[in-house]
Amino acid sequence: MLQLGQECFPEDEQQTIEELVKIFEFLMRDYEFSPTPRTQHPKSHGYVEGEFIIEKNMSDQFKVGIFSNSKTYPMWVRFSNGSGFSEDGTFQSDMIGDIRGISIKLLGVEGCKASENSAPNEQDFIAVNTPIFFLKDAKSYLDFFPIVNGIRDGKIIINPDGTPKQIPDKLKASYEAIAYSLPLLNGVRSQVMSSPLEANYWSATPYKFGNTAMKYAVFPHIEGKKFDRETAEDQTNYLREAMTKHLAEKDAYFDFCIQLQTDVKKMPIEDPTELWDEKESPFIKVATLRIFQQEFNSQDRIKMDEKQSFSPWNCLEEYRPLGGVNRARKIYADMADFRNNINNA
Ligand code: HEM
Repeated sequence: MLQLGQECFPEDEQQTIEELVKIFEFLMRDYEFSPTPRTQHPKSHGYVEGEFIIEKNMSDQFKVGIFSNSKTYPMWVRFSNGSGFSEDGTFQSDMIGDIRGISIKLLGVEGCKASENSAPNEQDFIAVNTPIFFLKDAKSYLDFFPIVNGIRDGKIIINPDGTPKQIPDKLKASYEAIAYSLPLLNGVRSQVMSSPLEANYWSATPYKFGNTAMKYAVFPHIEGKKFDRETAEDQTNYLREAMTKHLAEKDAYFDFCIQLQTDVKKMPIEDPTELWDEKESPFIKVATLRIFQQEFNSQDRIKMDEKQSFSPWNCLEEYRPLGGVNRARKIYADMADFRNNINNA
């Protein structure tokens, strides 16, 4: 019988992770972009400075790690698009539906780290604009790559009901393995985002938290009218424009919330395509993100963004990443080193 916060490890997991690393390194070597961007979430809408303010008077069950004391930490935040490039080799337009990310880095965080790869004194929280991830496990990523490439190159044609109209024999097994993920991915991509500062984000994958596990989410404070992309001066990059206009005038705020795992079956650790129902366990606010009013489009800031790296494994042992998808994400540190080595060569 599984316990709260307990993981299950498939036998061939390490081999899957090594194959993923080879694919990502191949992609980065192949880029014609300079500097070489991240393989995932390459397009940034802004790398911005702020502070992370822990709530006062929290219930004891949330007083784990940094949430034990009402302290304020210096913070950097990066907002991004998940997908890569258009056919002309530029970053994909923001007008095309996509997964959008928020990467949060707290500085000056003391404590025991979750892995030897964890950056000292840093705590990262990484989230996307969907409460579930579209892949069940790391192995699905290996099948996913040839299928999305096949769809992009026109070798695979999908019917409106999701069944394949045309598919090469050698890709049939991969398609069947990840057919479940395509409607999930299309669901996120069909959302329209007004501004990165006006969106909800979720960790989608679970993390250790005391005697149980948690997922986290980041919800914006929205005042007044949302940004209207139809009025943008540059629609291709309207998400950066929306942030630029907002932060030229005022600070931006988000609530940082935690959802505890209360049921091992209804809230599984190993399958992030399963939604943890908020009726079962609600998200509770534990901190406020305050992003300062600022100008962030300078060349210096853009260079800092390119060199920076975030990882779910940049974290305290108290919030050890859980589940197969998160275990595979140990590769972020190596991927960032690989990309920075190419860029420094
Ligand atoms: C097996 C699953 C996954 C793999 C293999 C993977 C892989 C990667 C890689 C290689 C990077 C670029 C790292 C770098 O060069 O610095 C990245 C970035 C990112 N990933 Fe994942 N990812 C996975 C799952 C997820 C999940 C579940 C989320 C949901 C929160 C997510 C959100 C992000 C975000 C927001 C970034 C941008 C980080 C930044 O701003 O630097 N990924 N991912």
